[in-house]
Amino acid sequence: MEKEISIHDKIFSIYIQEEAILERVQELAKEMNSRYHGETPLIISVLNGSFMFTSDLLKKLEFSCELSFIRVSSYNGTESTKQMKELIGLTENPEGRHVILVEDIVDTGHTITMLVNQIMTKNPASLSICSLLVKPDRHETEVDVTYKGFVIPDRFVVGYGLDLDGLGRNLPHIYQLKNN
Ligand code: IMP
Repeated sequence: MEKEISIHDKIFSIYIQEEAILERVQELAKEMNSRYHGETPLIISVLNGSFMFTSDLLKKLEFSCELSFIRVSSYNGTESTKQMKELIGLTENPEGRHVILVEDIVDTGHTITMLVNQIMTKNPASLSICSLLVKPDRHETEVDVTYKGFVIPDRFVVGYGLDLDGLGRNLPHIYQLKNN
């Protein structure tokens, strides 16, 4: 295992090893297994960053479930230059379903808040958020993450699905930016 890696001239050091990630994923799955026993929730995974987490998590879930992938696209709103985000690709209807949103990381919280607001308009039976990582120091919105993998400080991370400008998603471990 590489202790340090470089991506686009930036140096990252090992932060959470694959073994520790998988152990935590198993613990999260256990919590969810007791909550959703006997239900068939709709799991909505937010691409691209959560693909690896979603795959490992779902292998550990013991209840029946459906899986849908969505993306968030950014666009400039017509009334201001502020970057807006919209949900794209949701094909299943969340109405009356127990929905679990699976994210890689909740940073400022804007993405997850927008997703929650949009899904709530479709009247799910319940909605919970499962995020591998959360950076509470960066939150700009009130977010209630039900299932949190790791609470981490305000420092950029890559690996295990997360990227820096498209690179690093394939790394099995999570790496943290050095000296920022
Ligand atoms: P938010 O809307 O600020 O919470 O940002 C959520 C998205 O920003 C995540 O789904 C990631 O794609 C990206 N992001 C935020 N922090 C990091 C990081 O440390 N590494 C890689 N991607 C990040």
